[in-house]
Amino acid sequence: MGDRIVTTSKIEGDFENDYSLRPQSFNEYIGQKKVKEKLDIFVKAAKKRRENLDHVLLYGPPGLGKTTLANIIASEMGGNLKVTSGPAIERAGDLAAILTGLGNFDVLFIDEIHRLNRAVEEILYPAMEDYALDIVIGKGAAAKSIRLDLPKFTLIGATTRVGLLTSPLRDRFGVMCPMEFYEEDELAYIIIRSSQILNVEITEDAAGEIARRSRGTPRIANRILKRVRDYSIVKGDGTIDLATSKKALKLLDVDSQGLDSIDNKILSAIVDNFKGGPVGLETLAYFIGEELDTIEDVYEPYLLQKGFIVRTPRGRVATEKTFNHLKREIPKNYIENNQISIF
Ligand SMILES: Nc1ncnc2c1ncn2[C@@H]1O[C@H](COP(=O)(O)OP(=O)(O)O)[C@@H](O)[C@H]1O
Ligand SMILES: [Mg+2]
Repeated sequence: MGDRIVTTSKIEGDFENDYSLRPQSFNEYIGQKKVKEKLDIFVKAAKKRRENLDHVLLYGPPGLGKTTLANIIASEMGGNLKVTSGPAIERAGDLAAILTGLGNFDVLFIDEIHRLNRAVEEILYPAMEDYALDIVIGKGAAAKSIRLDLPKFTLIGATTRVGLLTSPLRDRFGVMCPMEFYEEDELAYIIIRSSQILNVEITEDAAGEIARRSRGTPRIANRILKRVRDYSIVKGDGTIDLATSKKALKLLDVDSQGLDSIDNKILSAIVDNFKGGPVGLETLAYFIGEELDTIEDVYEPYLLQKGFIVRTPRGRVATEKTFNHLKREIPKNYIENNQISIF
């Protein structure tokens, strides 16, 4: 089976033009107004005070521009960027080596920071708070702890699972940035910008159509754009218009709501096999044969955001929108019984 077109994680083909499509400055970075404004002010203030920027935590679903923002912050701060990830730092010593290699105003970007192990995380606490590294020398009764000063760096952490961060770690970030799904007009703008970079012509309504089906996610918008471009080169004259994009999207198995077969499998499982819910996420994951984490990180956020499912204390429940989408009849008293009122 090929990669899902609407998957939010990186797949082959995303690397084509990845660098050139990535915005390099706050000005080029479209959307995320609240986060961008906040960061812009903090970056400017830090530069004025000639101090390092406070540590930043970027959190939200994959593909929304966390890594891109980290790059922009580092370049605006004029420091070097060191990129690593939670699972890549295996031992406390690995992190100590990274930290001592930093300079003032450098940015250390730790992706998937919720996956740091405990011993490594403990090195981070004094590093973030006091710019200090505590090293233990010797063993047993003769062991001595010495403290090394670290440069004034900025840690940028990114995570799709902010709930998994320990509170001591979360508390040490001065700037919290929740990333949101993009509006359709923002995505259309991103698609038009990307088409210019890729040198393809696209009509405004085609950009709007792709935007509507991109799950509020720039990574997906760019990916669909590239595939639609390929389609239009082979089947048309290379220009992307509404008809071409609709045909290509059909071929790519993305429906009118931007949902693919797995999303629809989740929705129809809730509706057809669990009477619309409530059903626990674990049961659901088992039932459709997907990892629980994948459902929680990748599929569910968008389905929740779009109002296809709601969370209740007893599990996930399908909404009226889902019944309509799947063209199923809503059982009598379903909405009252499940106490769902917002659609
Ligand atoms: N605000 C934005 N404006 C334009 N393009 C964006 C924006 N955010 C993300 N992108 C595009 O989406 C891709 C994925 O973004 P990325 O920063 O890797 O997401 P994340 O780290 O959150 O998974 C980037 O390569 C970039 O081309
Ligand atoms: Mg990333």
